Amino acid sequence: MAYDIVHHEYDAIVVGAGGAGLRATLGLAEAGLKTANVTKLFPTRSHTVAAQGGISAALGNMGRDDWRWHFYDTVKGSDWLGDQDAIQYMTREAIPAIIELEHYGVPFSRTPEGKIYQRPFGGMTTEFGKGPPAQRTCAAADRTGHAMLHTLYQQSLKCKAQFFIEYFALDLLMDDDGSCKGVLAWDLATGQLHRFRAHMVILATGGYGRAYFSATSAHTCTGDGGGMVLRAGLPLQDLEFVQFHPTGIYGSGCLITEGARGEGGYLTNGKGERFMERYAPSVKDLAPRDMVSRAMATEIREGRGVGPEADHIHLHLEHLGPEVLHTRLPGISESAKIFAGVDVTKEPIPVVPTVHYNMGGIPTLWTGEVVTLKNGNPDSVVPGLMAVGEAACVSVHGANRLGSNSLLDLVVFGRAAAIRAAQLVKPGQPHKKISTTSEDRALARLDRFRHAKGGSPTAKIRLDMQKTMQKHCAVFRDGPLMQEGIVKLKEIIRGFRDDLAVADRSMIWNSDLAETLELDNLLGQALLTIVCAENRKESRGAHARDDIKERDDTHWLKHTIAWRVGDEDVKIDYRPVHLQPLDDEVEHIPPVARKY
Ligand code: FUM
Repeated sequence: MAYDIVHHEYDAIVVGAGGAGLRATLGLAEAGLKTANVTKLFPTRSHTVAAQGGISAALGNMGRDDWRWHFYDTVKGSDWLGDQDAIQYMTREAIPAIIELEHYGVPFSRTPEGKIYQRPFGGMTTEFGKGPPAQRTCAAADRTGHAMLHTLYQQSLKCKAQFFIEYFALDLLMDDDGSCKGVLAWDLATGQLHRFRAHMVILATGGYGRAYFSATSAHTCTGDGGGMVLRAGLPLQDLEFVQFHPTGIYGSGCLITEGARGEGGYLTNGKGERFMERYAPSVKDLAPRDMVSRAMATEIREGRGVGPEADHIHLHLEHLGPEVLHTRLPGISESAKIFAGVDVTKEPIPVVPTVHYNMGGIPTLWTGEVVTLKNGNPDSVVPGLMAVGEAACVSVHGANRLGSNSLLDLVVFGRAAAIRAAQLVKPGQPHKKISTTSEDRALARLDRFRHAKGGSPTAKIRLDMQKTMQKHCAVFRDGPLMQEGIVKLKEIIRGFRDDLAVADRSMIWNSDLAETLELDNLLGQALLTIVCAENRKESRGAHARDDIKERDDTHWLKHTIAWRVGDEDVKIDYRPVHLQPLDDEVEHIPPVARKY
């Protein structure tokens, strides 16, 4: 079918208006580049709005701290899969990044002396892991993401960045030489298609948490950037590392911030025991997320869960008192009431580990530039394409992200990408004609879904995928379970290809079609996740195999990169981990056993 397409030309465009997308947009506009932000959601509805507990930086406002300790904690937290150059950049830049946010107007909570308030978070320590827990996580009560998102949106508007809101990016426009030249997008409200040409495209499209049945992620977290990258024939990295947040509300999956344990909350099992003492004797409930989630899953598996089915755990906050709960944790107090019917001043919250974050994503350098493996070069830059935030795998989080390092990642690398783009793109540079191959393919894909006449609705296929991932690739996995999951998922993918039913053929607010395009993005990433998880024959960070319990640095201290081949196949290769920091301000941290 022929579509009339509106043509736009910009120096740079950003796809996505969460924390990373807005910070990149702001940086590009400030640098004088003609910048557009193309976003599926109204900016302040992006998923960053749901980030609660805070953003890490070694400000030392509430106890001694040093960014080198933050660097050490992040390398160890990543189970040594994080790239140490990028981790150095992020932890060092954290301090000016927070001061910059404060100056932009983020309403941080305050200490009595008026400094930014900081709370403890899992895995954040002092003295290179030898000292007491660090108070490093800067917070705006338990609505830190909300506060940041509003501030960054206001600042971007002030710099005259242009926003194309509720425009769904369909595909990257790639030229024959492999460079990215723009995106094709669908205006959901009018049905009009738009071609955005740009010398730099920055993907800030978030994670793909909705590949799973129970997730803290919004329903909109469908990995749209990752889907576009796979269709452009480029790889994704380390998708086997999926973070389960220990405290999703039992039943709804709604997030209860780790800040609740940072403020002194603790977990108990069905026998009323504070079981974390057995799993992480020194830091207990403030162990990193992978460890707490595994401990909870173990208690439940061994019959020590809470409730009639012994299938969840209790989080206690009652002892903190109404004053602390009201000032430091107002948002989760409300969520617990609404989603669990619990008054947190009187009773514990029922919680279970819930999918929360994708450590893997689009492989990039610390500058935000997307890389691929080409002619033996594992860091071969894809011209014209960058990725930031949860969509990207820089990789600062490696096999397990520490809580509050995500909001930090968004602002540090959103800013870094804008700085690099401003070095690469001259304002007003003309746009040359490009091959129409990728646009033709994107339109054919749109048409195929729009006119699908099979018998299986999108919602049914999505549910089958989500249940398969939840069962076959969860906190604990093993070879046979994942192999069975791969067979099921391939069957689901074939059903999507051969028997999809889309009922609505219109282009205006066609949520059936939008959800189908999202499902296509999810399916590709679900497939890579489970295939790469089955392929990685070790346990590391969030990838915990029951059948191979040890980390294996000899064979597996490397990033997985994977391409989708056709509908059902995956090609796997590897990139080395960057074990050396950027410069001699810190020393490389050699891998050792990870104990807390
Ligand atoms: O628990 C939380 O507040 C989530 C923070 C994070 O994922 O960084």
